[in-house]
Amino acid sequence: MGSAVAETRVILSLVSAAPVSAPARERVFSGMRPTGRLHIGHWFGALSNWVKLQETYDCVYCVVDLHALTTGFEDVSQIHEDGIEMLADWIGAGVDPERSIVFRQSQVPEHAELALLLGMITPKSWLERVPTYKGQIAELGEQIDTYGFFGYPVLQTADIALYEATRVPVGQDQLPHLELAREIVRRFNHLYGQGAEVFPEPQALLTEAPILLGIDNRKMSKSYGNAIELGADPDMIRNMVGRMITDPLKQRRGDPGRPEICNVFSYEQLFGAPAERVAEIDRTCRSGELGCREHKDEIAERIVEYLRPFRERREAALADRGELERVLDRGAERARDVAVPNMQRAKEAMGL
Ligand code: TRP
Repeated sequence: MGSAVAETRVILSLVSAAPVSAPARERVFSGMRPTGRLHIGHWFGALSNWVKLQETYDCVYCVVDLHALTTGFEDVSQIHEDGIEMLADWIGAGVDPERSIVFRQSQVPEHAELALLLGMITPKSWLERVPTYKGQIAELGEQIDTYGFFGYPVLQTADIALYEATRVPVGQDQLPHLELAREIVRRFNHLYGQGAEVFPEPQALLTEAPILLGIDNRKMSKSYGNAIELGADPDMIRNMVGRMITDPLKQRRGDPGRPEICNVFSYEQLFGAPAERVAEIDRTCRSGELGCREHKDEIAERIVEYLRPFRERREAALADRGELERVLDRGAERARDVAVPNMQRAKEAMGL
């Protein structure tokens, strides 16, 4: 076991109040597509919640590589490696693969199998209605006009149902998918449950994510290169913070600034600045005493310190890739312990 993993476990067990022999808890399922390195938007938007939920729920976290193929099927050269990197990011953030089930979707064939069965009962019109569907087609064009992409939410429903997960931590953008998952499960229960529930209807656990913009004030996105990665080294962080956009009317020190429109200021609380310091920055920015440069230097160091343990654990994990592969292998075994009997129940319910 890599030391990073062990260290993560120690830290988490210190903060956990859950007794070792907890009674059966509700199950959480969530997934992320392996499409590159994670950044602070992923942390505040989802991952921080994942880490916390480990204290209260039995969590299943999935590298959804099949979902990644729904849009990125042409160039698959990075998909395996991206999964490993993402796992390292998760571990860096505090996801504990001992405590939670952490695995790769394509290693558990029941996801594909249940998706096929759920596809039999899902009307095309339900899928066409998903707002992201038409939007993404319009954005990405013909290239994702595939059967697989169309069925994305069906596969997502299978992910959740296979583990009888009742709680699904997601961002706002995923709510339509969750609603659809609930409808598909409801239809399945109605058709085959003989009055009982075969699978529970999952509920979204919304992450109260603050709107975090990238350093250029656009939506934070890997493709814009405007997001600070969780594994960024200190110089990279300093460089990116240095390029952040502040109040355009505050040209130099002495000019009054408006913290409410300043992206640097919005990072302040998130990265744990004490309330008194935030108040003081607010005051001295407005009065002009505080220059943007000094302010950026301060927040850069705050981010460096905040992300230091992420980077250290991430690097320690990546130092032993073989172990990361084994973590996923063990995760897949544990996942199958749950998924196989549930798949069996689904088949039986459908008369197979
Ligand atoms: N669609 C999700 C996203 O893009 C990823 C995902 C796949 C997922 N399967 C899931 C999330 C099941 C929650 C539950 O973020």
